[in-house]
Amino acid sequence: MSADLVNYKLLLWVGKMTLIIAAMAVLGNGQKSIPTTLEGPFKPVTRRFDPSLRRGSDDLGMDHPRLRRTVSGYFPEQIALALSAPTSMWVSWVTGGAQIGTHVTALDPSSVASEVWYGKESGKYTNKQTGMSMVYSQLYPYEGLLNYTSGIIHHVRLEGLEPGTKYYYKCGDGSILALSEEHTFETLPLPGPNVYPRRIAVIGDLGLTHNSTTTIDHVTQNDPSLILMVGDLSYANQYRTNGGKGASCFSCAFPDAPIRETYQPRWDGWGRFMEPLISRVPMMVIEGNHEIEPQAAGVTFKSYLARFAVPSEESGSGSHFYYSFDAGGAQYAWLMKDLEKVDRSVTPWLVAAWHPPWYNSYSSHYQEFECMRQQMETLLNQHRVDIVFSGHVHAYERMNRVYNYMLNPCAPVYITVGDGGNIEQVDVDHADDPGKCPSPGDNMPEFGGVCHLNFSSGPAKGKFCWDWQPEWSAFRESSFGHGILEVINSTYALWTWHRNQDIFKDNVKGDQIYIVQQPEFCSRATRDGSRSLDPKQSDGTGSDSLAPLIALFVTVSLAISLLHGLGI
Ligand SMILES: *[C@@H]1O[C@H](CO)[C@@H](O)[C@H](O)[C@H]1NC(C)=O
Ligand SMILES: *[C@@H]1O[C@H](CO)[C@@H](O)[C@H](O)[C@H]1NC(C)=O
Ligand SMILES: *[C@@H]1O[C@H](CO)[C@@H](O)[C@H](O)[C@H]1NC(C)=O
Ligand SMILES: *[C@@H]1O[C@H](CO)[C@@H](O)[C@H](O)[C@H]1NC(C)=O
Ligand SMILES: [Fe+2]
Repeated sequence: MSADLVNYKLLLWVGKMTLIIAAMAVLGNGQKSIPTTLEGPFKPVTRRFDPSLRRGSDDLGMDHPRLRRTVSGYFPEQIALALSAPTSMWVSWVTGGAQIGTHVTALDPSSVASEVWYGKESGKYTNKQTGMSMVYSQLYPYEGLLNYTSGIIHHVRLEGLEPGTKYYYKCGDGSILALSEEHTFETLPLPGPNVYPRRIAVIGDLGLTHNSTTTIDHVTQNDPSLILMVGDLSYANQYRTNGGKGASCFSCAFPDAPIRETYQPRWDGWGRFMEPLISRVPMMVIEGNHEIEPQAAGVTFKSYLARFAVPSEESGSGSHFYYSFDAGGAQYAWLMKDLEKVDRSVTPWLVAAWHPPWYNSYSSHYQEFECMRQQMETLLNQHRVDIVFSGHVHAYERMNRVYNYMLNPCAPVYITVGDGGNIEQVDVDHADDPGKCPSPGDNMPEFGGVCHLNFSSGPAKGKFCWDWQPEWSAFRESSFGHGILEVINSTYALWTWHRNQDIFKDNVKGDQIYIVQQPEFCSRATRDGSRSLDPKQSDGTGSDSLAPLIALFVTVSLAISLLHGLGI
């Protein structure tokens, strides 16, 4: 079997907020007996929740060994990596103690240096790079809600790195002998005949529970080279004021508070919890609704923006931390401009991700982001996006290729993996289960408009919900888990969903399929958004001849470009 080298793009666009694009080289080998999307559309399959499991678990306590602060003074902790440009990497960490309570005083970020010492040999740090640091506060003008101010958050961008190379690094402040232990990372390789497979873990709605622990241990076992977090990261906003009853009780502890407290030390706990993995494997984050975290003076997204380095400047997204819930038009234009730039002969794979799913047959969040789908779907289809990852719904679902609710062999494969294991429990109800069709007042989005609609064709014509699993839903299961995407060559990618309950069973996969592109068949011309594609009409007539070039140009560049912008 010929092993091919591939460049592909990851495009992450989140709730009108974030765009990240990455292209990288991948190599792999095919396997037999795994279904391919070419055999689809598949008959819908549902695997219901296994009643021998519990639907969720408690949050880990702040004194849990994986959450507890184990350093003192200005010693670095919560070390994390994120991809920057092709030859650069972000290193982020926190020094100094966070404070929470009635009297908090922000630390001075300039009181400690931001240095990364690194090199290609263990113990020999031939390079030193400095960066920037900041603190943020989460404040509430309401008695009983706790004010918070963070430790000093450092971000350093290492530049001029060699591809496919292992680096050893320490971070901290050398002048006060506060450098971390040595950590390592490997830069992504340049295309070449011996490139090992890139394994991209996709995780959504993780939280910080016993189930999140299983997920992260399982991800670690699966040895990813990059992690995509598709939003709703720590669930800090669900920790203290929910009365322990889960999502629906927004203010049990403080019913009259104008805003809901989000308990920021959870973010520090999350940073420590993730550190063993993300201090060696870069993690790209996109924000979900749990990152909004409103505080005094209408400020939002403070923690998310301060804690995570994202390559916004590198990618030319315009403004570094630009967010506003009503700048959708600008963001749309920016996304479109960016999609125009993608050269599919160089970058055959275009993978998009944002937090809330467009296609979702669970009762939870059913049609919640229908406005976004209506505004964006044609654009995505015209630009032949291959795969779309989302979270938000706390269960797994993989769609048959679908466009505008109609099966379409050239539409993206939509996958929901909001099953990371957060405190809100697994979603088990389907909108097609008797009595479980949400009413119009349910599932109101936290941002954007409401565009619920009844289907205009098909078996559910005139109705809001189907009476059985919709034909566009290929497989759904109410379990926690995560996915691994491995791009094999310019037309084949292997997608595997791993369930938490299978963590000790090596050969069990919750779901596995080859996602196969048909570039000639699905030329751009046939994807004009206004009609459903008839396979017979378009077969072999793809005259937009980028497609044949894809296989030839697969080794052009490593080019990891990550785009990130905000503009909700
Ligand atoms: C890609 O891999 C698949 C599965 O291994 C194989 O059938 C196909 O021929 C390969 N395509 C190319 C262009 O190498
Ligand atoms: C979540 O974790 C708890 C505690 O480990 C376990 O009992 C429960 O079955 C898990 N639930 C799922 C859905 O995996
Ligand atoms: C928290 O910060 C807000 C905004 O600065 C302030 O109004 C409030 O009094 C502080 N709360 C406490 C308990 O100090
Ligand atoms: C939409 O469907 C629901 C039932 O699913 C029905 O009650 C409602 O009248 C329909 N609305 C319209 C405008 O047809
Ligand atoms: Fe969410």
